[in-house]
Amino acid sequence: EKARAAGGSAFAFKEVEAGVDADHHVAEGYDANVLLRWGDALFVDSPAFDPKNQTAEAQRRQFGYNNDYVGYIPLNGSSENGLLVVNHEYTNPHLMFPGLVTIADGKIKQAPLSRAQVDIEMAAHGGTIVEIRKVDGKWQVVPDGQYNRRITAITEMQLTGPAAGDDRLKTSADATGAKVIGTLNNCAGGVMPWGTYIMAEENFHGYFSGKLPEGHKEAANYKRYGVPESGYEWANFYDRFDLSKEPNEPNRYGWIVEVDVFDPQSVPKKRTALGRVKHEGAANIVSKDGRVVLYLGDDERFDYVYKFVTAGTYNAADRGANLDLLDNGTLYAAKFSEDGTLQWLPLTFGQGPLTAENGFASQADVLIETRRAADLLGATKMDRPEDIEPNAVNGKVYVMLTNNTKRKAEQIDTANPRADNAFGHIIEISEDDGAFSATSGKWEVLLKCGDPSVADVGASFSTDTTKNGWFGMPDNCSIDAAGRLWVATDGNNNKATGRTDGLWAVDTEGDARATSKLFYRVPVGAELCGPLFLPDSQTAFVAVQHPGDGGDDWSGHGRPSYYEDLSTRWPDFKPDMPVRPAVVAITKTGGGKIAV
Ligand code: FEO
Ligand code: CA
Ligand code: CA
Ligand code: CA
Repeated sequence: EKARAAGGSAFAFKEVEAGVDADHHVAEGYDANVLLRWGDALFVDSPAFDPKNQTAEAQRRQFGYNNDYVGYIPLNGSSENGLLVVNHEYTNPHLMFPGLVTIADGKIKQAPLSRAQVDIEMAAHGGTIVEIRKVDGKWQVVPDGQYNRRITAITEMQLTGPAAGDDRLKTSADATGAKVIGTLNNCAGGVMPWGTYIMAEENFHGYFSGKLPEGHKEAANYKRYGVPESGYEWANFYDRFDLSKEPNEPNRYGWIVEVDVFDPQSVPKKRTALGRVKHEGAANIVSKDGRVVLYLGDDERFDYVYKFVTAGTYNAADRGANLDLLDNGTLYAAKFSEDGTLQWLPLTFGQGPLTAENGFASQADVLIETRRAADLLGATKMDRPEDIEPNAVNGKVYVMLTNNTKRKAEQIDTANPRADNAFGHIIEISEDDGAFSATSGKWEVLLKCGDPSVADVGASFSTDTTKNGWFGMPDNCSIDAAGRLWVATDGNNNKATGRTDGLWAVDTEGDARATSKLFYRVPVGAELCGPLFLPDSQTAFVAVQHPGDGGDDWSGHGRPSYYEDLSTRWPDFKPDMPVRPAVVAITKTGGGKIAV
């Protein structure tokens, strides 16, 4: 099928006007319908959302907060009936709890959270698995879906793979070092070819408070990951988040979690073979040799791009044979060389510097301290790796590098070519021999982001890109069935850009390469996550995350806004309803494929 007009953009739609206001906007001729909001029912017995009287018990039966990754697992191969899997990355208590924030004498004050509020936060984290169905062209939730499930920060999980059971993972509550309560800060993720749901644990450091005992052996490890950051108040009520009381607990987060969605009682598995970093996501593809390759970004300034290649091969005829494939394989960190080649460096205990001499006694140590292992191997320090998506149509891999304003001129390299990189860039990888499992490849910069009309920015959008079409801060992305790249952003929401975040269609082929067009934009304060195109190309799901953040909160006492004069109560626009993160289904009015 030919989706590309000769010589021009591969995307046929009329661009949205960039800008900032309280609502979301999609290209003309398309419908953007809110499918699931924070607090929406997921089960027949879910209590109605009552934001002024929210409870943890209710929240555990409702859609969680700050939807990020969106995946779709078809039922019977359908693009009109399947399981939507959605991560709930984090919570914004100032937007969730009425009256929490007050202003007195011009000073903004946020009250400490109660135990009940912390319990709501924990229940609003994690993920949602919910059956959805398209009826008369419109998506709806199936509340009696047999697989519907909420996963939260208190769902029991199992550590598996080489680090499971290691002494460094043992706590006073878990002498086995293999049983963890909950998952934290699930950012992006993936869906495996065998229909499991991957939740990547990203900024886990923010949940921990307190001080390690003097001279504790994990001190250097935790420093490398920024633990503790004390962004959350959970340690006030739960000792496991207090380093002085439970010093090993942070080693049990920062993993890739795999959930078997077809067994709602299944214990999610933290797959330690894929390393412990601030995992952005885990998009994946079956290589031509049958091994499965997951691309992994570690979202921190000067951290690394990784990939994991399974030891075993995918068995399309026997689902059960694949369910533990992620426990065995090789984790690699990327070295982007100045000559445009790429080397994948194995993080394997006993090889190169990953030995006892450097403090590694086992593969478990290499995985628990993945970052230090990659430091020693000489991987390339990147400008915050976010989503990395393999493209099954053109065989390439797209790496979103969101920004890095701390990179100094003397730290520039060809893979991170700008100092004070405020707007980020996108790298395109071609693995050698067209094999995603290859240990070497080539790379080039597809796009340097930012406003091309400001020369100092050094952006590289094509000249066909309009004033609406440029963006900064690429974060999540999706490749549609025609192999076209769609990029969602995080961070345009400020006066300098004059635009909110959104979803941009980015050409990668031919003369139109590096042309970008705005397809959808979010309400003020939000970032856009998720984007996902279904196999029939007739639906795009997007996740509007933290709308209104930086704006008024719903009790009328806001934190300072990026736009003092603007705020939003999207998507309900009702005075008794808070602003709510939500997943939106985008379809062509009257049906049909998107952007053709
Ligand atoms: Fe949760 Fe890297 O974004
Ligand atoms: Ca986010
Ligand atoms: Ca992200
Ligand atoms: Ca981001």
